[in-house]
Amino acid sequence: MTTALAPEPLLAVSDLSVSFGGVQALAEVSFSLQRDEILGIIGPNGAGKTTLFNVVSGLVKDYRGSVAMGGVDLRGKSPQRIVGLGLRRTFQNVRLFKSLSVIDTVLAGQHLTIRESVFDSAFRTPRYHRQESIAVQRAQQVLAFVGLGHVAPGDMATSLPYGGQRRLEIARALAGYPKVLMLDEPAAGMNATESRSLGTMIRRIAATGIGVLLVEHDMRVIMSVCDRIVVLNFGRMIAQGTPEEIRSDPAVVRAYLGDEVGA
Ligand SMILES: Nc1ncnc2c1ncn2[C@@H]1O[C@H](COP(=O)(O)OP(=O)(O)OP(=O)(O)O)[C@@H](O)[C@H]1O
Ligand SMILES: [Mg+2]
Repeated sequence: MTTALAPEPLLAVSDLSVSFGGVQALAEVSFSLQRDEILGIIGPNGAGKTTLFNVVSGLVKDYRGSVAMGGVDLRGKSPQRIVGLGLRRTFQNVRLFKSLSVIDTVLAGQHLTIRESVFDSAFRTPRYHRQESIAVQRAQQVLAFVGLGHVAPGDMATSLPYGGQRRLEIARALAGYPKVLMLDEPAAGMNATESRSLGTMIRRIAATGIGVLLVEHDMRVIMSVCDRIVVLNFGRMIAQGTPEEIRSDPAVVRAYLGDEVGA
């Protein structure tokens, strides 16, 4: 009898536990993420969502359980090394450099991945110029993809309206060709129209083959874009399923959704 080999998930989290002093931020959380998939992570304030992102991106190193990307164990790896494996994230609060223009912000996201030798960049070799012009082209494509194609590339990043700054952060993350993209409350502070179009954009990102982990409190965004949802409460996973399953799960409604269930 032959057995088909299941594809290695883009991201596999198994029995992940984290405690900060007496606070159990995560307790035995397990899930996996495939290509093209959008996995929502929801739960009340303090449920452990950002901590989960911090473990995967290498910022929190003291944990039990395992985290692997494409079968590679991330334990002990630096944040830069994990970026090199194809992970990008955005943060809960906007984090843009005040001194960088829009285009330079996106280029900064790419320079993490472009193989640029010190010799090439110091002496501005033809190879350096070739790589630089490819990078600028890529940056312009990514800006158009996130709906910032109309912005003057030389404008300062922080001069964009709030919604534009959030899109620019996603552009910076996408510029480095991620395999896995983690978005921490991308719709926070957006109005209904902005968050609807953000949702559409997240679907388009996943359609390019990227696996997306989406932490979000906006239930309309979560229910309309996610393929599956993981629900955390006090660090424990209380449910995992499709938006339909989650919407009608009594434990989830009790812990979290409450009145929002019809959203
Ligand atoms: N570096 C840290 N040191 C100590 N405690 C922490 C640290 N980071 C998080 N915590 C605690 O761990 C728990 C989970 O926090 P976390 O930020 O992961 O929640 P969250 O689900 O992202 O919440 P929110 O929806 O408010 O962003 C909270 O009790 C928080 O106070
Ligand atoms: Mg958080």
